[in-house]
Amino acid sequence: MTKLDAERVGDYFSRRDTVSGWWTPDEGPLRFHYDAELQVLADGVPLTGDERVLDVCTGRGRFAAHFAERGCRVTAVDVNPDMLELARETVRRRGLEERLEVREADATALHGLGEPFDLVSCMELFDHLPDLGAALASMRRALRPDGRFVFTYVPSESLYGSLGNAYRWWKRRRSPGELLISRTYRLAEVRALLEANGLALERVWGVGVLCLNAQTRLFGDHPLSRLLLGGARAEAQRWPYHASPWLAPHGAHVVGLARALARPSEAGGTSEPAS
Ligand SMILES: C[S@@+](CC[C@H](N)C(=O)[O-])C[C@H]1O[C@@H](n2cnc3c(N)ncnc32)[C@H](O)[C@@H]1O
Repeated sequence: MTKLDAERVGDYFSRRDTVSGWWTPDEGPLRFHYDAELQVLADGVPLTGDERVLDVCTGRGRFAAHFAERGCRVTAVDVNPDMLELARETVRRRGLEERLEVREADATALHGLGEPFDLVSCMELFDHLPDLGAALASMRRALRPDGRFVFTYVPSESLYGSLGNAYRWWKRRRSPGELLISRTYRLAEVRALLEANGLALERVWGVGVLCLNAQTRLFGDHPLSRLLLGGARAEAQRWPYHASPWLAPHGAHVVGLARALARPSEAGGTSEPAS
């Protein structure tokens, strides 16, 4: 199992000219894949529009804007200065100043943001976190009892996750000191970590079982890339996402919905075991 170096990963995401250079889900050849995550929320996470939402690791603010456009009052946080600027630009461009506020905060230290929230979202961050348990404990504390938690992760069970792990293994062997910023999880691991932190998994959806490469930065104009992309796009046209219990955990990305079980003080809170 790949363990991420907390200090180096933390330093990477807090620096300029890092993640903003490659995280462009709203444009580029994989837009259809990342748009399907929004489709899951539109179809599977009903909202009245009265909810207060905390969008953790907001990036360019695509999920925060989604919730604000559905009427919610949203606080969006991130640690990266470029991303915070880009998220504020999204707020201006989409005219969401009344309902969406962008602030700097780390997923593992969420306080003073006006909690408790009705819904916390954490999309596309699990795989970059050195201590997912610590972040889950912090996000759980920001939720009201019975509040909802939506998230994504890259499953070890998927073709994309397996290929990524083979690549990381090879990279570690070739240059042991090189920085790794991502890893995968098995569904059972995610469920156990959620439960240890007072969150009960209710549903999962899988996006892109045939999507072997969900990394915008790796897509060149190579014929193999075009072939892989063609297969993933054909799948997305027919099934933007999978809800069946077998297919869902095999998507390149899994979208999950969990519910806060107890008061945060009653929930134990657990980090990942050292390995
Ligand atoms: C892959 S992007 C996902 C952005 C957005 N959620 C989306 O799906 O479009 C990951 C984001 O997490 C942010 N991030 C990384 N570590 C973080 C942390 N410890 N706390 C909060 N945000 C973090 C990065 O700066 C980046 O904007």
